[in-house]
Amino acid sequence: MEQYVLKGGNPLVGEVTIAGAKNAALGILAAAIMTDDEVVIENVPNVRDTRVLLQAIQGIGARVNYIDEHTVRICGGTINPHADNCVDDEFIRKIRASYYLLGAMLGKYKKSSVALPGGCNIGSRPIDLHIKGFRALGAEVDIHSSMIHVEAERLEGNHIYMDVVSVGATINVMMAAALAEGKTTIENAAKEPHIVDVANFLNSMGANIKGAGTDVIRIRGVEKLHGTEYSIIPDQIEAGTFMVAAAATKGDITIKNVIPKHLEAITSKLKEIGAVVMEYDDSVRVVSNHRLKSTNIKTLPYPGFPTDMQPQMAVILALSEGTSIITESIFENRFKYVDELFRMGGQIKVEGNTAIIDGVEGFVGANVVAPDLRAGAALVIAGLVAEGFTIVDDIKYILRGYEKFDEKIRALGGQIAVVETEKEIQKFKLKVG
Ligand code: UD1
Repeated sequence: MEQYVLKGGNPLVGEVTIAGAKNAALGILAAAIMTDDEVVIENVPNVRDTRVLLQAIQGIGARVNYIDEHTVRICGGTINPHADNCVDDEFIRKIRASYYLLGAMLGKYKKSSVALPGGCNIGSRPIDLHIKGFRALGAEVDIHSSMIHVEAERLEGNHIYMDVVSVGATINVMMAAALAEGKTTIENAAKEPHIVDVANFLNSMGANIKGAGTDVIRIRGVEKLHGTEYSIIPDQIEAGTFMVAAAATKGDITIKNVIPKHLEAITSKLKEIGAVVMEYDDSVRVVSNHRLKSTNIKTLPYPGFPTDMQPQMAVILALSEGTSIITESIFENRFKYVDELFRMGGQIKVEGNTAIIDGVEGFVGANVVAPDLRAGAALVIAGLVAEGFTIVDDIKYILRGYEKFDEKIRALGGQIAVVETEKEIQKFKLKVG
């Protein structure tokens, strides 16, 4: 099994270029099959989640070609509209975003069957709002043998109120409604940058979607969509992870290919605890050379502080002076990394959805296990700071969402390698001393 081995202590210094947004890519790649024409998508992050989704898209008959590492040509015209279009394989069950094929295929073919979504184990992740939205558009939804089947004679626009702000449900309903008859209004919609990116992509295919990025999205259904060329926005969370890595290692990183506005919540917290953040047109630079201060954080839907940055921020707060409190208000099981950080010397107490963090002066290297994608990245940051060697196990989670994570860290001066055997670990230890 692949692991990371790290030796902490080096400040991360230099420049790093951020990949396309994984979560936008997952929506956009699924939506690409909604036309029979060719679609070219640029800035696709080359991570496991996007590769798995592309395999699934191929699996239902679409043509998928990589033009280069980050550019994909997709043609949904070769999908057999009369086939079952059933998306189920051992891989697709592992990624949550497989459910985007429900909305995309429901819109285009008026029916779809997809295996119940997997993804990170960060608490119960219901899909009731997706189902509510599909039903409101006139679809019948049926769940059996861990498959979801959606089918409609015709889809008709409707007024849909989301009881909880949900990124996935907003995107899924937006896709189906793009090809429904008449007008759909999604109220209490999610406002994340990738909602806007998926809406822009659909509009570039001829959809008529207004208001993405606000609470109310209005969609006027069109009969069909056409081919397009589109470039995905940069990954807000990958950027945020490197921002935290710069501050935690007392480094100096210029993070390129970002939209600074999307990073405001992270920038503001890093400044509050004493790091220096400089914003440029399409880059940010984070510098720190001293121990940072404590603060309180509550995760919230965008533009609030992103839950996907909560574990990384916890690492930095665990090293900051004083007591910090993190309240996780989106997912119920997102503190599983706390036990791992404890092994490294972290002092964090969890009570319900709150983590009380007593900052320590430093971490010591340990063997830890990545419990999920973002927590895994957080443990890597902890390992970069820790004294001695750290081994992060189960890096398959991290590879789902970070492109060339170890390479990028090495280029910034961090000591990290991917290893599979004890011999390789020893080799790394001998090399870095
Ligand atoms: C997406 C992101 C994930 C991020 C999350 C919150 C993707 C592929 N994943 O996940 O990285 O952590 O947004 O920013 O884009 N909920 C319901 N019913 C539903 C759907 C959601 O109650 O039908 C609840 C969830 O339990 C959670 C909240 O809504 O408490 C937000 O979840 P949601 O925004 O849907 O997250 P995902 O789309 O799964």
